[in-house]
Amino acid sequence: MENQIAVLAPQSAARAAPELTIVVPTFNERDNIRPLLELIAKALDGDSYEVVFVDDDSRDGTLQELQAVSRTDPLVRYIHRIGRRGLSSAVVEGMLSSSASYLAVIDADLQHDETLLPDMLAVLRGGEADVVVGSRYVEGGGLGEWDGTRRLISRTATRIARLIIRAELTDPMSGFFMLTREAFAGSVRNLSGQGYKILLDVFASHPTTLRLRELPYEFRTRQHGESKLDALVTWEYLMLVADKLFGRFVPVRFLMFMIVGGLGVFVHFAVLTLLLKGVGSEFKAAQTGATVAAMTFNFFLNNLLTYRDRRLKGFWRVFGGLVSFYAVCSLGAIANVGVATVAFKEAFDWRLAALAGVLVGVVWNYAATSLFTWKQKK
Ligand code: GDD
Ligand code: MN
Repeated sequence: MENQIAVLAPQSAARAAPELTIVVPTFNERDNIRPLLELIAKALDGDSYEVVFVDDDSRDGTLQELQAVSRTDPLVRYIHRIGRRGLSSAVVEGMLSSSASYLAVIDADLQHDETLLPDMLAVLRGGEADVVVGSRYVEGGGLGEWDGTRRLISRTATRIARLIIRAELTDPMSGFFMLTREAFAGSVRNLSGQGYKILLDVFASHPTTLRLRELPYEFRTRQHGESKLDALVTWEYLMLVADKLFGRFVPVRFLMFMIVGGLGVFVHFAVLTLLLKGVGSEFKAAQTGATVAAMTFNFFLNNLLTYRDRRLKGFWRVFGGLVSFYAVCSLGAIANVGVATVAFKEAFDWRLAALAGVLVGVVWNYAATSLFTWKQKK
């Protein structure tokens, strides 16, 4: 009996949940996995931690690498997501898979300074803060080898962030931070979960002001692989800010859909003018051409911006989407004219009647295209 206990005790101790989970989002980072693990091991020597990679179906061999290391290293796990993309949502899923008291995020590409991890952990253990952020903008931190444009974008984004957060974050764009499980739990249900800016999202989504500490670090240069931050990541960021600002009143997606529709009116008149004056078409033909052009323009712009997270890709998907968009908008146009005509007969002012028709048409188009054209997966 005694013997058995002696055998079991060290085993169950080895299986105790780690105190810290470090989440590492990855997309095509094969050559960074092992160096990162070595650096973390060196930095956190003696601490109880685990590393959870969240990979969005990389095709460069990252997954093979993750499988190999997690088979031999008990401190490493990974989550493989298929058909999904997104840094923020990857981080959230990694954190949700953990039962540790403290949760951290660090990029896979060695640009963040892992030697900060023990200091972050010490601050949280001491109960002085709910979130500790690695900042490039406090004394001692820096942007490394960033060029002027990238610096400017980062600083502008930081200013905009002030619109939605109360905390004095100098580096709300930082993708390097650690927080308590309570702080995470307090925000997780309200997170937008879109795009890149998970830290900002956590702060903006928490019902109370989180206690913050910032520690400086110098942003390093990427050695392997490439950055996934494209121009449209900036767009997603603006959508996140807009959602936190007005999302309570009107869905940002609906606003966006209306703005795109408004731009479509300009396209309509431009094409109409071109066909009438330039080509010399008849009015009916010109109006038809302009309508098709405007609908096509709206479809592609909505696909790129409004529904960026559900973007249709590949020839047949896009083609099918375009056809369903035409179909929905045609019905929308019929509804628009129908409602406006009835309203006009009911002795409404003609402007009000037209507006009523347009509104019914827009709401129909928005609702129906979100159901049929850009339907949510599952
Ligand atoms: N799972 C997953 N899915 N991971 C992703 C995705 C994705 O769609 N996109 C990027 N990643 C991973 C990358 O593999 C990398 O480990 C990390 O997220 C950061 O991506 P980078 O493409 O290297 O971003 P960056 O260097 O331009 O920007 C980083 O630094 C900025 C400044 O601190 C990010 O951390 C930003 O959040 C941060 O603002
Ligand atoms: Mn990077």
